[in-house]
Amino acid sequence: MRTYAVVGAGGRALQMFGIPISRDHGDTARLVGVYDPNPKRARIFSERCGGTPAFDGFDAMLDAARPDAVIVATIDARHHEYVVRALAKGCDVVCEKPLTTDLAKGRAILAERDRTGRDVAVTFNMRFMPYMARVKQLLAAGAIGEVTAVRLEWLLDRSHGADYFRRWHRYRRNSGGLQIHKASHHFDVVDWWLDDAPVRVYATGALRFYGANGPFRSERCTGCPHAARCAFYWDLDASPFDRALYRETEDADGYFRDRCVFAEDIDIEDTLAAQVSYARGATLSYTLCAYAPYEGFRATIDGREGRIECGEFYSGPRAAEPDGVIEVFAPDGARTVHRVPKHGVVHGGGDERLRAMLFGTGPFDDPLGRKADLLDGLRSLSVGDGINRSLRTGRPVRLTDAWDIIEE
Ligand SMILES: NC(=O)c1ccc[n+]([C@@H]2O[C@H](COP(=O)([O-])OP(=O)(O)OC[C@H]3O[C@@H](n4cnc5c(N)ncnc54)[C@H](O)[C@@H]3O)[C@@H](O)[C@H]2O)c1
Repeated sequence: MRTYAVVGAGGRALQMFGIPISRDHGDTARLVGVYDPNPKRARIFSERCGGTPAFDGFDAMLDAARPDAVIVATIDARHHEYVVRALAKGCDVVCEKPLTTDLAKGRAILAERDRTGRDVAVTFNMRFMPYMARVKQLLAAGAIGEVTAVRLEWLLDRSHGADYFRRWHRYRRNSGGLQIHKASHHFDVVDWWLDDAPVRVYATGALRFYGANGPFRSERCTGCPHAARCAFYWDLDASPFDRALYRETEDADGYFRDRCVFAEDIDIEDTLAAQVSYARGATLSYTLCAYAPYEGFRATIDGREGRIECGEFYSGPRAAEPDGVIEVFAPDGARTVHRVPKHGVVHGGGDERLRAMLFGTGPFDDPLGRKADLLDGLRSLSVGDGINRSLRTGRPVRLTDAWDIIEE
């Protein structure tokens, strides 16, 4: 039995960790504390997660509850503070992705991990999606030989994509931008598929759809005079979960979950393109669009002995298809089709499989190396931070072995 304390009692903490751990993992995991600067949200976590004690300070929680590990699920820009403080108290850490929002914070985590020798796991649940794992399996088995080039196009739809522009993510100081907050998943999957490390990044991007691009604006959807004609109007009271967790707690910290997606001070990109080079020579061409008509991804992967074409769709007309399809083309033009049944609605079946690894009974069989550690977190962060630097300077950047960025 391992004991866990949780910091950050928002939607992810409840749905990924608090409720399932207290409901399904009683033999192996016990929640011994929760802390959130908003005491109302911490209390909701406590009520819904078997009476987990809520604390009014993080260090006070660690001193009193003495957890084996701390689950960090705060806003991204604060992850590093809690990871470092948890390690310093002798705890292991399960850190939500992204590891943090820039490499300086990442290096602080690495130094504390090295000093204390504790474990830091990063929750890249996308590696646990059966579809992604099947692509990894094919590549690892040499289905197309050595990989030379990947193209990955990621689409966020106008519901999920827009959500990042309503909340804290819309400020770079909180999330690092979607190149870190969201694309950390995507860069990690490519690092994992290729079993290689990114070394160079060049990026372009802009805010082309949300923010000042909108036709009108207000502070938030609640009480908005444009509600009837706005395609992005979102009713915070429609779901009992959101109402309880965000509406009924907003007076304690001013966190409005339904801010206007057309606010003029939004400072992250919704349109991104990046060119990434890997240590062994492969290239990645990546794009992200956060206002697409449907959600999903397409990837094409060229190798010396063939090509993979793949993609999965999470909303829109193709989401209802029962299987995901992966096509493998041989140099002679022969095509092999692999079908991967869709698994689960939440994150393509990744969350439940990740939990089974983190909190399951017995040793976890991991032939594909799905468990992501601190170095994996740093690797995907380095691409996102490299994109931010490249966007600022307009120049390509090199990623160094010392987890730093050098402008070319
Ligand atoms: N792996 C995934 O697929 C996945 C999915 C969703 C969210 N996440 C990650 O989970 C984390 C939380 O996201 P969410 O969607 O639950 O957001 P959320 O807005 O629902 O919750 C964030 C919580 O952090 C708290 N917080 C804010 N500032 C804090 C501080 N200084 N110290 C401690 N807590 C603070 C807020 O009060 C809030 O309760 C993020 O890092 C996000 O990237 C991961």
